[in-house]
Amino acid sequence: MLRLALSQRILSKQTPDILVFDSGFGGVTVHREIVKTRARARYRYVADDAVFPYGELAPAALIRRVLQVLEPLIAARAPDVLVIACNTASTLVLPPLRSAYPGVAFVGTVPAVKPAAEKSRSNMISVLATPGTVARDYTRELIAAFADHCEVELVGSRRLAPLAESFIRGEPVADADIAREIAPCFVQRDGVRTDHVVLACTHYPLLLGQFTKLAPWPVEWIDPAPAIARQVERLLVERGFGAGDGAPASESGELIFTSGRPIDAALLKRLAAFNLAPAEQAPT
Ligand code: DGL
Repeated sequence: MLRLALSQRILSKQTPDILVFDSGFGGVTVHREIVKTRARARYRYVADDAVFPYGELAPAALIRRVLQVLEPLIAARAPDVLVIACNTASTLVLPPLRSAYPGVAFVGTVPAVKPAAEKSRSNMISVLATPGTVARDYTRELIAAFADHCEVELVGSRRLAPLAESFIRGEPVADADIAREIAPCFVQRDGVRTDHVVLACTHYPLLLGQFTKLAPWPVEWIDPAPAIARQVERLLVERGFGAGDGAPASESGELIFTSGRPIDAALLKRLAAFNLAPAEQAPT
C-alpha cells in the first residue's frame, strides 16, 4: 500500500501540471509550442472568454480580473508552471501575480522587441499589438532598453484579436479587414523600410498566413511562442522534472472557458488540432 502510494507520488512528480491562460484562443499558439517540447504533462488551458477582449480594459480592471480568475485555479490545481499567454495581461499583471503567489513559477508573454531589434538590418521594426499593450510603460521600457538604435512603429489594433477569434471559429475573415489592420506596420522612408514585425499579441500567429499573403512587402514576423516554450522547459527542469523528449502528445489538454458557453462541433474540431478538449465544467 505504502509502496503504491509512494510510486504514485513519484510518477505524478514526473508529470508536471502546466496551466496556460489567455483572454481567449490566442494562447493556443503558445500552448502548441510547449506541447511540441513536452507532450507528457497535465495541460490546462483557460480562456477568459467571459471578458474577452482584454485589449481595451482599463489597467486596474484587468489586474483585478486576472487575479480573480487565477486565484481559484491556483488554489485547486497548484500548477508547476503558469503561463500568462497574453501580452496585454503580462505587461501588467506579472508583478502582482508574483507577489501574491511566490511559490508559483509564472512565465509571461511580452513583446519580442529584443530579437526583432537584433535581427533588423534596416533598423526599422514594428510592434503589432492590442491598444493596451502599445500603451504600457513596460512596452516603452523594452524599446528603450533594446531598440534604441531602431525606429519603432507601435501599432495598436482593436480588431485583429476578434478577427483571430472568428478565424479559429471557422467564420470568414475578409482579406481587406486584415490588410487595413496590418498596413500601419509597413513604413518606408528614404528608400529604407520595415523589415521585422513583432507579433505582440498571442492571437496574431493564428492569422499569419493572411498576414504574409497581404503584406505590402516581405518581412520577418516574430512570434515569441518558441522562446516561451523554451523558458517553460528550463523552469520545469530546474524544478526537478526530467527534460521533455519531444514525443508526440497522446492526451488532450483540458480546456476551460470562464463563460461556460457551449462550444460547437466545428470549433471543437479546430481546438482538437491544438491538442485541447473541453473540461466538463468552467471553474468560475
Ligand atoms: N491574446 C492577447 C494578447 O496576447 C490579447 C487579446 C485581447 O485583446 O484579449 O495580448
